[in-house]
Amino acid sequence: MTQKVAETYDHLADKHFTAISKVIESRVGIKLPPAKRTMVEGRLRKRVRALGLSGLQAYGVHLFDRDGLDDELIHLIDCVTTNKTDFFREPSHFEFLRDVAVQQLTQRHGGRPPNLKVWSAAASTGAEAYTAAMVLQDMVAAGKVARFSILGTDISTEVLREARSAIYPRAFVEPVPSPMQQRYLMRSKDPRDDLVRVTPELRRQVHFERLNLMDESYPFDRDVDVIFCRNVLIYFDRATQQEVLSRLASHLRPGGYLMLGHSESMAGSGVDRLRSVAPTIYQAGLAVNGRSAA
Ligand SMILES: C[S@@+](CC[C@H](N)C(=O)[O-])C[C@H]1O[C@@H](n2cnc3c(N)ncnc32)[C@H](O)[C@@H]1O
Repeated sequence: MTQKVAETYDHLADKHFTAISKVIESRVGIKLPPAKRTMVEGRLRKRVRALGLSGLQAYGVHLFDRDGLDDELIHLIDCVTTNKTDFFREPSHFEFLRDVAVQQLTQRHGGRPPNLKVWSAAASTGAEAYTAAMVLQDMVAAGKVARFSILGTDISTEVLREARSAIYPRAFVEPVPSPMQQRYLMRSKDPRDDLVRVTPELRRQVHFERLNLMDESYPFDRDVDVIFCRNVLIYFDRATQQEVLSRLASHLRPGGYLMLGHSESMAGSGVDRLRSVAPTIYQAGLAVNGRSAA
């Protein structure tokens, strides 16, 4: 039997798919309704091969009947998360960062070129964090920003490994304007390699750590200037979205900005510390007598 035909007959047992959905929803916040079953099974086949198991039935038994779940969870999460990202994705956010946010934050930093902290809170393979780094490094060169540091976090260890390596296929960096490609991307020495790497100058200012946005608190600074949390809230239910937004808001300095994905919104989140200043961009108000003021 060819591998393709074998896979056609290879499925998770119903009880194992249900159990996987429950684990993922409770630990990661992502819903896996029955409509996602084929996608999940397709992605888990590489784990079946990596573990040398006979198929998805055996994978379910390995997880739930043979106590394999604890060791496998990290890989299970890698398989079920959707990591689509791009350089300069939703470019209006980076234009806002360059044209509005830095100027406003400069005032909050006493009128001097600011030292900025940026957090990419669902960083995937790092394109969002390095895009912000390119924009801010240009502003450092122009004397408008003193320094910056960028933290990228994600729940998936696999994407974090790629983000730290900062190596991408040439086609993937096409959205980066050519002058920035010249300044911030290095071609591989081997011309047969169609890969580029972010320059050490930028890499030094960006680092990555694992964080589950479902955690009750985040062990990071509470004076962040700009948080990107884009294209992840859509996977969470409403209650989880509200909790995540409220925690993120508590990490912004007064006047700091939160950028959400273009199909995401704070509407009805009950987080009154943030006000809308542009589509999907929110700004933290100043605390006045413990209460929020814009
Ligand atoms: C679609 S990508 C978005 C990447 C980037 N923010 C962008 O907009 O291009 C969503 C990312 O969220 C991550 N993610 C999903 N659930 C998460 C959670 N509970 N905590 C942290 N990251 C999570 C996934 O691993 C994935 O890399």
